Amino acid sequence: MRAAVATRISADDPVAGVEIVDVPEPEAGPGQALVTVEAVSLNHHDLWTLRGVGVSEERLPVVLGSDVAGVTADGREVVVHSLVADPERGGGDELLDPRRGMLADALQGGLATTVAVPARNLVDKPASLSFEEAACMPTAWLTAYRMLFVRGAARPGQTVLVQGAGGGVATAAVTLATAAGLRVWVTGRSPEKREKVRALGADAVFETGARLPERVDVVIDTVGHATWEHSLRSVRPGGTVVVAGATAGAVVKTDLFRLFLQQITVCGSAMGRREELVDLLALCDARGVRPHIDSVHALEDAAGAFERLASGHAFGKVVVTP
Ligand SMILES: NC(=O)c1ccc[n+]([C@@H]2O[C@H](COP(=O)([O-])OP(=O)(O)OC[C@H]3O[C@@H](n4cnc5c(N)ncnc54)[C@H](OP(=O)(O)O)[C@@H]3O)[C@@H](O)[C@H]2O)c1
Repeated sequence: MRAAVATRISADDPVAGVEIVDVPEPEAGPGQALVTVEAVSLNHHDLWTLRGVGVSEERLPVVLGSDVAGVTADGREVVVHSLVADPERGGGDELLDPRRGMLADALQGGLATTVAVPARNLVDKPASLSFEEAACMPTAWLTAYRMLFVRGAARPGQTVLVQGAGGGVATAAVTLATAAGLRVWVTGRSPEKREKVRALGADAVFETGARLPERVDVVIDTVGHATWEHSLRSVRPGGTVVVAGATAGAVVKTDLFRLFLQQITVCGSAMGRREELVDLLALCDARGVRPHIDSVHALEDAAGAFERLASGHAFGKVVVTP
């Protein structure tokens, strides 16, 4: 079968390592199911792999693509939870399994016509979501869902600040927070993206780093270095800053006086549990919530799709269909 594969590592030019090649059809191992892939959405995780973060050259080639929607051999339309982990090893929480990995590193990924995945990772796709929309859910959307409602415990009527207008996680957070009755404020670098995010439902948009009219209850930050100090300045006393990414750098300066005197909670968040993916899909189904898709690419153009993600110009999710 045809597959988009990481063939080599390059820290400076990760997309150069993406090749479309013929690989053997996967076989389902014990506890696994085969899924015919209908759509895959891209995440930075694959770009980190192509840069050699978390993988060594000996692990290559590996089929890329961790967010899959497709159909099982018995005709079930599914979304695949992208975390490969054992809840028991994590004391009942798969996110705490010390050996957890993701599809496309722990196992071969989904940028192909067929993928073998753990059967427990299969979740029913609501009929109301297209395969392209459903493929956006397992990583970026699930991460945004958990940041907002589990780690950030945001409630209707509260104000949330989302740092970064156009990101996959950021656009998901804006859409979900709006659907849940929050007041949503967003920062963004470009006027075009700020306008687009307003159309997604943001109540107010600001330039990156701008002073806000008042402090917010919860901050959603996946940017890191470029927004961190602004996040801490923008949250109200007793509020929460939730962090799930560091696109602009992971090493930051923190004013500890502000942190403890203002009783600010800083929460790390990574991915989400399978049951949270079920809840997220139910929310999308019930309320008509849909991901914003930046572009859909054919498998043969997987490198072009990764270029789009790496460029920083995408607004919403980049999707590939085999
Ligand atoms: N922990 C997890 O489970 C998890 C899951 C998914 C993603 N992530 C991480 O979260 C991060 C975002 O992922 P994504 O898929 O949303 O990426 P993305 O679609 O490429 O978005 C990147 C975001 O970062 C903002 N940004 C980048 N550089 C910036 C700078 N110098 N100043 C201000 N804003 C900047 C962009 O803002 P503009 O729109 O204004 O340009 C955009 O919102 C990545 O680091 C990824 O690895 C983590």
